[in-house]
Amino acid sequence: MARPAWRLVTTAFGAVVVAGAAYAVSKSPIALGQWLAQPRASWLLAQGAYPHPVRLVLPPQQPLSAVARLGGKLFVDSALSGSGKLSCASCHNPAHAYAPANDLSVQLGGGAMHTAGVRAVPSLEYLYRQQNFSIGPDNEENETVSLQQLVASGNRAARATKTVQSTAQAAQNMVPQGGLFWDGRANTLQQQAGGPLFNPVEMDAGSVSAVATRLQHSAYAQDFTQLFGPGIFQDPKLLVSEALFAISRYQIEDPSFHPFTSKFDAWVQGKARLNPAELRGYLAFNDPKRGNCAACHLDRPTPDGLPPLFTDTQYEALGVPRNPSIPANRDPHYFDLGLCGPYRRDLKAQTAYCGMFLTPTLRNVATRHAFFHNGVYHSLQQVLAFYDFRSTEPQKIYPRGPAGMVLVDDDLPAAYRGNVDHVDPPFDRKPGERPPMSTQDMHDIIAFLQTLTDGHAAHDIE
Ligand code: HEC
Ligand code: HEC
Repeated sequence: MARPAWRLVTTAFGAVVVAGAAYAVSKSPIALGQWLAQPRASWLLAQGAYPHPVRLVLPPQQPLSAVARLGGKLFVDSALSGSGKLSCASCHNPAHAYAPANDLSVQLGGGAMHTAGVRAVPSLEYLYRQQNFSIGPDNEENETVSLQQLVASGNRAARATKTVQSTAQAAQNMVPQGGLFWDGRANTLQQQAGGPLFNPVEMDAGSVSAVATRLQHSAYAQDFTQLFGPGIFQDPKLLVSEALFAISRYQIEDPSFHPFTSKFDAWVQGKARLNPAELRGYLAFNDPKRGNCAACHLDRPTPDGLPPLFTDTQYEALGVPRNPSIPANRDPHYFDLGLCGPYRRDLKAQTAYCGMFLTPTLRNVATRHAFFHNGVYHSLQQVLAFYDFRSTEPQKIYPRGPAGMVLVDDDLPAAYRGNVDHVDPPFDRKPGERPPMSTQDMHDIIAFLQTLTDGHAAHDIE
């Protein structure tokens, strides 16, 4: 269970008091409680300044390699798709943090451009540190162990509650983590790019040889021969694999995929101040008794100065309500179960993972138009209401059935509803109990989330 290590009491802006002993271990060099207990820290915080400014270690800025530049051309080329109308950028729009410009829950694709997708389109930003999918406390240690062995040990290990102050403990849990897509079914960006390209509801590019032919007739065909030799067009499989490699290099090398130019980044480096609402939001985001958001959406620089990515890259079943606007959901027997299928196939038998989805980054989240894996919500207000009321007033979150009963966890078959998180705050309360966040807290957290949008002009405040 959660051990209350410290408690922040915010009476009004400017009056930040720290109560309670800081004894829990933290992965960060210095825990938030200890930090605020330092002489000048709470005074600095009260001024809106980050109490412990750091110099963030950002990805190196260097000219793109030739392969990455080719990847950039492929990324925006709709000639690769079956319809001739979709490029990667159609769904991952560079002007919208590499997410869709429209507010549909799921996007249209396919050969005739009217097949609806099944999941919301994630941003492609800040994936540069995403580890391979694994189940366990540490990726390196697990490399030689098979996934099935990991599953077995994961099922034996007791699960520790995730609170903001116990993330180190949670890291010791045997939990699924890492990987790409909402269900982690791809490991590398290269492996991933083949997914949407050939997916019949997305780019629907057809066969490898069809794609190879299109590449051979593209305006940048010469780039391929220059980079991979004149024989490249004789080997369609290799050609397509090099094209996917180029797209992945583009996403890794181009700074627009990880700009770190938000107000938050300026703030932690001592170059900006948060306004009172943003600061209150930051505290509620970190308070285990209110949002507890930072327990999963990590918001502290790592000990070696890497900027936080606002995800612990772990999987959770939050019990997000069913989205009736997804055409696939018209079939009452269809369920998107995340880790255990139907799109991911290797963990089908691991029913304890049914309903679990990847914790996404919250960087640039305020620019998004569809939230959660099924895009059921379209505003941050709705998302915050979900976190506040799911456990305490479920009638505000889920629809009612014909007999007037509230259909709790309506996007999961009854057999898997036990997987839904009821231990981590803010989900640890019972129906009828007081919701963890006040209306003010929710407004403030949204103000804080807006500081995660890139493109803020930093000013030195000293
Ligand atoms: C029709 C819309 C569409 C197009 C076109 C598209 N994608 Fe996606 N993309 C998605 C959706 C939907 C997901 C999430 C799918 C899932 O989780 O199962 C996704 C997920 C991803 C992810 C994983 C992100 C994460 O956070 O795990 C990457 C990387 C990605 N796409 C890259 C690409 C590339 C590269 C292209 C072009 C070759 C492309 N996409 C084309 C809709 C699209
Ligand atoms: C126990 C871990 C956990 C906690 C605590 C948590 N989240 Fe999340 N968050 C997740 C997971 C997992 C998802 C994706 C769930 C899904 O799509 O089914 C998510 C998704 C989101 C999204 C949608 C992002 C997108 O791109 O679709 C937002 C916004 C968000 N969380 C904000 C918050 C806020 C604000 C709080 C605190 C009030 C919070 N989260 C607390 C795990 C957590």
